[in-house]
Amino acid sequence: MKMQSNNHFLLIKLLTLHYLLVLSASQDFDFFYLVQQWPGSYCDTNSSCCYPTTGKPKAEFGIHGLWPNWNNGSYPSDCDSSNPFDASEISDLMSQMESEWPTLSCPSNDGLKFWGHEWNKHGTCSESVLDQHEYFSTTLNLKTEINLLGALEDAGIHPNGSEYSLTSIRDAIKVASGYTPYIECNKDSSGNSQLYQIYLCVDSLGSCFIECPFVPGERCGASTKFPSF
Ligand SMILES: *[C@@H]1O[C@H](CO)[C@@H](O)[C@H](O)[C@H]1NC(C)=O
Ligand SMILES: *[C@@H]1O[C@H](CO)[C@@H](O)[C@H](O)[C@H]1NC(C)=O
Ligand SMILES: *[C@@H]1O[C@H](CO)[C@@H](O)[C@H](O)[C@H]1NC(C)=O
Repeated sequence: MKMQSNNHFLLIKLLTLHYLLVLSASQDFDFFYLVQQWPGSYCDTNSSCCYPTTGKPKAEFGIHGLWPNWNNGSYPSDCDSSNPFDASEISDLMSQMESEWPTLSCPSNDGLKFWGHEWNKHGTCSESVLDQHEYFSTTLNLKTEINLLGALEDAGIHPNGSEYSLTSIRDAIKVASGYTPYIECNKDSSGNSQLYQIYLCVDSLGSCFIECPFVPGERCGASTKFPSF
């Protein structure tokens, strides 16, 4: 009898601890945005771009980042300055990083600044789930699960400078991925709205795509340019 009540007490303690851990973990962040950018739309703006020292990126969507976000639309950032980006942690991923996550910022550089910025600002906020190596490898793996350019081209949407309806872009990606993306536009140097970044949502373990719990306000206009690169 004594034994049994001790066990109950222990069980209650464990359940309470578990509940508190789940509570505190769920406050870190709720889901991720996987954000990919079209290099043609990065480069044809007034601020222009610089190719990485490793050469012109391929004409494909490139990764911008994997961003922890809250369901209310805001997001945590710069969560742990004691765990800064360490390139040696991802030396085995370097050739994939250069090909799938190319930097376009000026002056021309090898990408370490870009990846360091992404880890320090966003990655540290999900370090309870993904360590540095896992953060980058998970992002690379998620990208290969859905070929955005292929999805658009299958729907007759080509990066040739023509305008396409926002609905057709969104539908094409929904057909290929099963989930509705958020589309972000920017402006070319003449002020035309163009397809800049595509956001897909990922569960808080980084394991699968989900329907977006929060979608920012759309600012694209009904049709949008898809420039070449
Ligand atoms: C959004 O939710 C998070 C986590 O619950 C909270 O820390 C943050 O203050 C909230 N932000 C806003 C603007 O409500
Ligand atoms: C771009 O491709 C679309 C679909 O094939 C075609 O209708 C359109 O005329 C092309 N635009 C240009 C500027 O070549
Ligand atoms: C880009 O720069 C040109 C020349 O200075 C200017 O005429 C144009 O309005 C700018 N475009 C945008 C979108 O700000």
